[in-house]
Amino acid sequence: MISKIGVIGCGLMGSGIAQVCATAGYETTVCEMSQELLDKGLNTIDKSLTKSVEKGKLSAEGKSATMARLRGTVSLEELSDCDLIIEAIIENKNAKKEVFTKLDRYCKPETIFASNTSSLSITELMMAVGTERRKRFVGLHFFNPVPVMKLLEAVRTLVTDEGVFDEVAAFGSKIGKTVIRTSDRTGFIVNRLLVPYLLDAIRALEEGVGSIVDIDNGMMLGCGHPMGPFTLLDFVGLDTTYYIAEIMFEEFREQRFAPPPLLKRMVLAGMHGRKTGRGFYDYTDPQNPVPMKL
Ligand code: CAA
Ligand code: NAD
Repeated sequence: MISKIGVIGCGLMGSGIAQVCATAGYETTVCEMSQELLDKGLNTIDKSLTKSVEKGKLSAEGKSATMARLRGTVSLEELSDCDLIIEAIIENKNAKKEVFTKLDRYCKPETIFASNTSSLSITELMMAVGTERRKRFVGLHFFNPVPVMKLLEAVRTLVTDEGVFDEVAAFGSKIGKTVIRTSDRTGFIVNRLLVPYLLDAIRALEEGVGSIVDIDNGMMLGCGHPMGPFTLLDFVGLDTTYYIAEIMFEEFREQRFAPPPLLKRMVLAGMHGRKTGRGFYDYTDPQNPVPMKL
């Protein structure tokens, strides 16, 4: 039975995942690299829950109870008693492999390992770790912002145990998500369709088809998207999008997944989107983003 959750990484995704798990009643421990990053992530969760209280969606007692179920740590060993571990660190196979290899030593044999990877193959990750718990290794792909987006992609490999897969799908429903089941193909369902679209928007900009604002307005006002592609790219993180595109291109060798040169240059220049204050827009005034001159 899943009752204790461990979340690795308390950035954009990890903080949201830890928040929804604790809100749904799970004892949740979230692990970061340093106390400073942990405090930053826990502060994000605190602020998000405060907003829910202000909007009347959560009682003040509900917030206190949620925060009491949430524990932060900088030591992976403290996740040893968790029933389900959800990893949400940087989109890099070696970094993820290192974390899972350590956890494999600390955790009990029944613990289920899940990665929130956007693009890495779960099978490849699992085999790189060389774990004995291959039947208990899945993908759980959340969407940003986690407290708002209703979807959870549950990813099974060829060797995932049927019962384990049902258990993680039931967990997904319990935290309020609609679970879609997918096989272990790079990008799964959503990113296979979404990533080429986002990369194509950058190519359209590079080719002078339209400005940042006109392309964004095109997709918002013409197609009813809540955000245009450049606002969404900044929201996801240009660094993360770049890593995802590299991984998907390596897998499929198809031009539509290749990261455009402009994306690479922006990442190299530290323009990672909303989280660093600059991407396709400048967020000096977060309420009034100004398109960048690129
Ligand atoms: N945390 C918690 N709640 C948040 C939030 C956050 N980070 N951001 C917004 N919200 C809440 C707001 O508080 C608001 O709640 P109420 O309805 O109760 O007032 C609600 O969401 C709507 O927010 P806003 O009115 O401020 O703004 P909006 O109407 O423009 O909605 C949005 C914001 C939900 C983010 C919307 O713009 C949207 O859906 N954008 C598209 C997001 C998307 O496509 N995500 C997927 C990215 S791809 C991915 O995640 C996969 C990958 O591997 C890269
Ligand atoms: P992020 O950069 O915001 O956060 C990653 C966090 O992990 C950082 O705070 C970092 O300090 C921490 N971290 C790195 N190594 C660690 C370690 N060894 N132990 C503990 N913490 C560690 O990135 P993100 O956007 O939250 O993405 C995280 C994962 O989620 C990636 O695999 C990404 O592909 C995936 N994802 C991202 C999105 C998105 O929209 N950004 C959506 C779905 C899935």
